Amino acid sequence: MSENPYLPKPAVVESIYVETEDVRTIEVKLKGFQVDFKPGQFAQILVPGVGEAPFCIASSTKRKDRLAFSIQKRGNVTIALHQVKIGDVVGIRAPLGNGFPLEDLRSREVVIIATGMGIAAAKPLILYILENRGEFGDVTVLYGARYPWNLIYRDEYDKWKEKLNLIVTLSRPPPEWKGARGRVTAHFSEIPNMRESKFIVCGAPKVIESIVTELVGGYGVKPWNIYVSLERHMKCGIGRCARCLICGGKYVCLDGPVFNAAEIPMETLRRDRWIWSV
Ligand SMILES: Cc1cc2nc3c(=O)[nH]c(=O)nc-3n(C[C@H](O)[C@H](O)[C@H](O)COP(=O)(O)OP(=O)(O)OC[C@H]3O[C@@H](n4cnc5c(N)ncnc54)[C@H](O)[C@@H]3O)c2cc1C
Ligand code: FES
Repeated sequence: MSENPYLPKPAVVESIYVETEDVRTIEVKLKGFQVDFKPGQFAQILVPGVGEAPFCIASSTKRKDRLAFSIQKRGNVTIALHQVKIGDVVGIRAPLGNGFPLEDLRSREVVIIATGMGIAAAKPLILYILENRGEFGDVTVLYGARYPWNLIYRDEYDKWKEKLNLIVTLSRPPPEWKGARGRVTAHFSEIPNMRESKFIVCGAPKVIESIVTELVGGYGVKPWNIYVSLERHMKCGIGRCARCLICGGKYVCLDGPVFNAAEIPMETLRRDRWIWSV
C-alpha cells in the first residue's frame, strides 16, 4: 500500500540554538526514517495540537537522519516551535519541493544572494558547496540584514570564508560595525564575472524582485542565469489544495520553491500577497 503523503513522521527535538531574539535553529532526530533531500527542498513541520507549517531544511544533505530548521517567530506554529524543548516530538513531512538545480551550477561561478531569513534557504546549498568545493568555480555569498543582531549563523562565517567569498552587509549598521554597509545591491560591483555567473536569490519576494531587476537591468545578467527561492502560504505542500498557486498555474510547493527567473514575471512578486511581504 502506498504511503499517505499527508501523514507526518515523528522526529525528536535534539538541539536548540538561539540565533537572534526571534530566530531559533532546532535540530531534530528522525525516528525510524531518513530524508534524502536536495539543497533548497523544504519540510512541513507539525506541532501536535497546534498546526503545520513549511520550513526550509537548513542542514547538510549528508545528514539524512537529522534535519535542522531555522525558525522565525511569526504566528501560532512558529511561536509553538520557539517553545519546544529538547525531547519533544514533532511531525515531519519531507522532502518537499524541487530544490536548487545543482546540475546547472556545477563547474560554474556561483553567486548566492540572501537577505533576512532567505539565508536559511541558502544554507544547505552553501554547505553542499563547502563539502564539494571542487565541483564549483568561484563562489560568492552576499548576505544582507538590517542590524547586526538580525544576523544568523554567525559562528559559521569564518568556516565559510575559508572556501568562498563571503560579504555580510548591513543596511542599518551601528557606528561600530566594521563590515560592509548598505543593501546587497550596493555590493554587486564587487562580484567578479557577473555575466558568466549563475545566481541564487533568496529572501522576501519584494526584495527578490528588486534584486533580480537590478541584476538584469543594471548588470546585464540573463534571467535564465538566475534562480529564486520563493515562499508562499501553503496547506498540503504536495500540489493538491491550490493554496500556493501563482501566476502561470504553477504551484510553489510542487513546481518550486525554486524557480528560474525566466519562468515567472517578477512584477507578480510585488503584486501578490506573500508571507514575508511588508
Ligand atoms: C517553502 C517555504 C519555506 C519556508 N521556510 C522558512 C524558514 O526556513 N524559516 C522560517 O522562519 N519561515 C519559513 N517559511 C515561512 C513559514 O512557513 C511561515 O512563517 C509560517 O507558515 C507561519 O506560520 P505561523 O502559524 O507561525 O503563522 P501564521 O499565524 O500562519 O501567520 C504568520 C504571518 O503570516 C501572515 N499570513 C497569514 N496567512 C497569510 C497568507 N495567506 N499570505 C500571506 N501572509 C499570511 C499573518 O498575517 C502573519 O503575519 C517558509 C515558507 C515556505 C512556503
Ligand atoms: S500547498 Fe497545496 S497545492 Fe501547494
